Order: sequence, then C-alpha cells, then structure tokens
Amino acid sequence: MKKIALIFGLLFCFTTTFSQQNEIDRKVEELLQKMTLEEKIGQLNQYSGDSEATGPITINPNKQSEIKNGLLGSMLNVKTVEHTQQFQELAMQSRLKIPLLFGLDVVHGYKTTFPIPLAEAASWDLEAIELSARVAAVETSASGIHWTFAPMVDISRDPRWGRVMEGAGEDTYLGSKIAYARVKGFQGNQLGDTDAVMACVKHFAAYGAAVGGRDYNSVDMSYRMLWETFLPPFKAALDAGAATFMNSFNDLNGIPATGNTYLQRDILKGKWNFKGFVVSDWGSIGEMIAHGYSKDSKEAALQAITAGSDMDMESNAYRNNLVELVKVNKVSLDVIDDAVRRILYKKFELGLFDDPFKFSNPERQKAALTNLEHTKAARAIASKSIVLLKNEKNILPLSKETKTIAFIGPMVKPKRINHGFWSIDLKDVDSTYIVSQWEGLERKVGKNTKLLYAKGCSVEGTDKSGFKEAIAVAKKADVVILSIGEAFNMSGEAKSRSTIQLPGVQEDLIKELQKTGKPIVILINAGRPLVFNWTAENMPTIVYTWWLGSEAGNAIADILFGDYNPSGKLPMTFPRTEGQIPIYYNHFNTGRPAIGEDKIYKSAYIDLPNSPQFPFGFGLSYTTFQYSDLKLSTQKIKSSEAIEVSFKLTNSGKFEGEEVVQLYLRDKVGCVVRPIKELKDFEKVKLAIGETKTITFIIDKSKLSFYNDKLEYISEAGEFDLMIGSSSEDIRLISNFELVQ
Ligand code: BGC
Repeated sequence: MKKIALIFGLLFCFTTTFSQQNEIDRKVEELLQKMTLEEKIGQLNQYSGDSEATGPITINPNKQSEIKNGLLGSMLNVKTVEHTQQFQELAMQSRLKIPLLFGLDVVHGYKTTFPIPLAEAASWDLEAIELSARVAAVETSASGIHWTFAPMVDISRDPRWGRVMEGAGEDTYLGSKIAYARVKGFQGNQLGDTDAVMACVKHFAAYGAAVGGRDYNSVDMSYRMLWETFLPPFKAALDAGAATFMNSFNDLNGIPATGNTYLQRDILKGKWNFKGFVVSDWGSIGEMIAHGYSKDSKEAALQAITAGSDMDMESNAYRNNLVELVKVNKVSLDVIDDAVRRILYKKFELGLFDDPFKFSNPERQKAALTNLEHTKAARAIASKSIVLLKNEKNILPLSKETKTIAFIGPMVKPKRINHGFWSIDLKDVDSTYIVSQWEGLERKVGKNTKLLYAKGCSVEGTDKSGFKEAIAVAKKADVVILSIGEAFNMSGEAKSRSTIQLPGVQEDLIKELQKTGKPIVILINAGRPLVFNWTAENMPTIVYTWWLGSEAGNAIADILFGDYNPSGKLPMTFPRTEGQIPIYYNHFNTGRPAIGEDKIYKSAYIDLPNSPQFPFGFGLSYTTFQYSDLKLSTQKIKSSEAIEVSFKLTNSGKFEGEEVVQLYLRDKVGCVVRPIKELKDFEKVKLAIGETKTITFIIDKSKLSFYNDKLEYISEAGEFDLMIGSSSEDIRLISNFELVQ
C-alpha cells in the first residue's frame, strides 16, 4: 500500500513539475514572439552596478536609459532592497517590462560571513556547509538579489593560486560532495521561493590548474585528467539542480573557455543536458582578444555565442556586435533565441514576471539580516572549520581559570581581517557585529583572568619595533596566544603569491617569543595553505584558523577553551616549500618511487623529502580515536555487486569529539595508471567519551570506475587495496578485494 502511495506521489510531483515546465515554456515562446532583435540581445547583457566593480571596468554605457529601453537583462554588484528596487523600477518602464536579474558574489555569506569555502571544506561537514549556503541565500534573497555567483568548484593543487580560498581544495570526491551541498543550500526547496537564490557554478572549466598558480593563466592538461579530476564537481553541482554556470578566464589547451564549444556545447549543454544558462566571467568575452583567439570584439562575440556563452558579463561585446552579426547571417537567430530562452525561463521560474519586486522586501531584509540563528550557524561552522595541527604538550584546551593570558599579534584586534576576500561590503550595515578575536577571548574567560595585549608586528613589512613590547607582555603571562597569518586581501582573486611563507617578520616574532620559555599557542589565519617550516618543527601548539568570518572571535575562543573539540581536517596538502607544488595526495606511484631515505635514481628531491608538511585529510582532536574490527562482506565482487565495509570507531580519550573517518582505495593495476590512493568515502562521527560506533561504507562500481584513455568511464577486473584512516597518511585499517567482471 505504502509503495503504491509513493509511486502515485512521485508521479504527481513529476507531472506537476512537467506541466509547470510546459507552462513556462509556453510563456517564454509567447514573449519571444513579441521581442525585437535588439530586445533579445539586450537580455544577453549584464552590467555591473554603479559604484562597485569586481573586475576592470570596460565601457560605461548609460545603464539607466538602456534599462528603460529594454536593452539589459541583468546586473551584478547591486546590493540591498533599496538599490535593486531602483533599477527594477527602470526595467518596468521598458516596452515589455522584462524584469532584471540581480547577481552578486555571495561566496561565503551575505551579511553574516561564514568561513571562506576552503575553511568550510575543512569541516567535512556537509550538513553544516549546506546550512551555511542556506543562510547566505536567506539573507541574499531578502535583499532583492536573485542569484549568487557560487559555488566555485574549481579543484586546485596549487596553493600559490589565491583563489584556492574560494573552493573546496584538492580532492575531487570531497569537492563534488561539497559542490552538491552548496547548490542545495543556495537553491533551497525550489527556485521561486522567496528564500532561494540561483546558484552559479564556476568557473567552467579547469581554472584551478592555472600554470604556476598565477591567476588568469593558461591551463594545459590531458582531457583524461579534465574528466577524471576537474569536471566531476561541476557535474555534481548540476545533479543538485544548479540553475546557471559561469565560464572561466583561462584557455584550456589553447582554446579560451569562454569560446570553447567542447566545454559549453558538447559537454555542458550536450552530454550533460544542462537547461540553464551560462554567463561569461567578467569581461572574459573581450579578453579573448588579449588571448590572441579573437581579432576584435566582433569576432569575440561571434566565437562566444557560438560556443554557448549565453550572457556577456561586462564585455559589451554582445551589446556592440550581435545585432550586426545576426543581420549579416554570421550568427543565426536560432542561436540567439536559444540563449534568450534560457535566461527568460529562469526569470519566469523565479516568479519575476508575476512580481518583479518579490525579492525586495524591506521587512524581510531586516528580519533576515538580524536573525540570531544565522549568527549561531556561523559560529558553529567556524568552530568546525578550525584544524588543530599540533598539540604536543597538551597545552590546549586552556583552562578558563588561567590567571594571565597574553594575546599577541596583528590579527588579534582588527575585525575586518576575519572576513576574508569575498566578503560583502555592506556600507549601510553596522560592522560591529563582527566578533574580533580579542572580543571572543574577553567574553570567554572568567573575571579572574587578566588579558594582556600587544600587536607585535604587522602582517607584512620588516618593522620589528613592536617585538620588545610583545616580549615584555609575554613574560608577564602564564600562556601566550599568538595570532598571525595573511591579511584578508592576500588570498583571493588576483592574489596569487609566488612565495607562500608566513608573510613579513611574523615567524621572527615567534622565534623571539619562544625564548621567553612561556607556553605558546600559535593561531594561523590564512586563505590558503602556508609554508611555516620553522614553526611547524619547533612550536608544539599550532591551530590553523583560516579566515572564519563574522563569528571568528567566538569560534576561536570555543576551540581554545575546549567548548568545541577541534574536528577539522585539511582539504589541501600543506607543502614544505613552494618547490614541491603541485603537491597532492592522490598522485601516481611513478616507475621509481622514493621509499624512505633511498633517493638514488629515485623520483625524489635531493634537498628535501617528497612528503608534505601536513597531509591531506589531517587534523587532530583533544581526544583520541581507535579504529578496529574491519570487516568486508566479501573480498570478491562482480561489477553489479557491492561490498559492505564495516569497522568500529572508539573514542579512547578524555573528551567528547568528532572524527572524520576516511576511506581510500587503490586500484593496483589499470589500463591507465591509477593514483596511489583516492578518497572514496568519509563520515564525520561524533562520539562521547568511551563510546564505540560501527561505521559502514558501501563500495560499488561507482567507486571503482575511472576514465580510460578514450575518455570512456569504465571499471576493470583486478585487485584493490582498501585503506581506512584518520588522514590520507594516517591509515589505521587495511584490507583488499578483487573485482571480477
Ligand atoms: C570572477 C568571478 C566573479 C565575477 C563577478 C570575476 O572577476 O572571476 O568569480 O563572479 O568577477 O564579480
């Protein structure tokens, strides 16, 4: 009976959605019939708002009059109910009253800032990540904005690239899960709900592999690697229902992504059947001239629209050239109509034709931007994102009864520093809601604890004049907390660094403070993995806090005093030097693998180990976990079958805690070489002191398949190693099995 009800339920949902789609299609066609060519092309243009720019300004047309004439489809960087309303009113003066779409880079929160995406990835907590995107959507949509340019799902193995802060790190499996969760969070139950925003998956594709980690640089990679490592997170985002995609600045194997038919038409709109629309990246259509792919703006427009870029963000290439290109039959009306249809469909789906102002509601904006639940969610995920790298002497957690604490460093007092590169500057919103690290600590400790402060030094520069005061303050304290790292604008777009050492004289400050003999807790705030070898080797207590957002101060204090037990794990490998980059855990073995100290004619560096400073998946807890009793339901499967893997996890320490258990596989022999290990599953498990839980993973064909050199997704008979551990290096349980065809 239940089954029948379920089938009828599903059938009902399916037919309702289907008839809604038909209805929207009908409305789109009706509108399309009424539109002039100029109006159609107008829908394909997107301009930035008046005062904000997130890229180089190109031409500055008279936006107001173009909107009134129905010649603009969308705007970005227009914030708040008031401003979106002003522009939408202009659109309502146009002949066909087609509403504008407003897009914005809500990358890690709108008003409530969440940890940067790389930090959130360190939480390995998909529910929390989805919630963070949900909160961002609630605040964004209540402010008149329909569309966020997120999630950024670019895999990257190069921490010099500043944009690693926007993504989920180096791993395809983890990145795909996160991409899915973030799209679900942004888009909520369905587009059209007033608390949902359209997601825009970016940057399609392979932008994270920019040569040398230099932003906007070229990408040259095998198509096999593209399919196996870089495309799956995009596909996962699409499976979650992502409404839009953004293409990327880079060329891929010589063809700029923006003019790349293989990426946009063959893969995205063809093989993957994507029904939404593709927006170019900022000015990327025009930039095909600098790439040396287009001789002028007209050719760029022709190449981009032909390749499947539907909307032109700030190049003015479509605006200036498409009408003529259609008139001389270089671009067919069908190509234009297809792009316009895709955009209009989304406007109907959002319900903007019924009420163009439905997202611009001052009361809802106020309620959303003052919702304390949002602050709570931001604090919780900020704590979960922190990674404990070392706690050798168990200095942490600190006692709330500690008599004197010296809180030193350039990150202690400023507020903005916690926000991270892509945080949104809401000029009319009171910034005091951001909790500084100092405030967080002050709120946490008891009345009897004395807090001392010294800045010590700046993030950058060579000035050591503050060292003296810092040392004097440290000498008076029972424990020193030193907060250092990168400033909020040292990682992000156009923020690639050739050296990723701790900037300025900060490591010198650590060395000086160490001489005081006081216990020192080092907090490293950064938008990427940094190199800090001396600190890593000589300081016993290191906490990686990334950039944590508006609740940074509270979250850090929660960790320092044990109100939250650290559970974060690195989503990127931390190199020992820049010379090791690209460095990633799932590399090939090579024909001459270096084992131990033996480097003679081996694939090794003569001047340093191959191993990273901290491996992928690594992160400590105040408690300890024991892995035991690994069982496989069978050790031989056919490709239509599955293996159930189970084991026991016990909290063997003195604190309640969470462990991210990680399952890795190695396909021992393949028709193309396979990585030494690949993450294939994980679970974040919470355990009380002494508690044991049985964890189960299922391994089926989907976890055993890969792309062969003909780009076919296949699985092959053969042996697999199975590894379960606490990081990619800290493997606790091993077994193996065989796939027989
Ligand atoms: C970035 C995109 C961003 C766009 C709009 C570009 O420079 O690459 O990620 O969405 O600007 O701000």
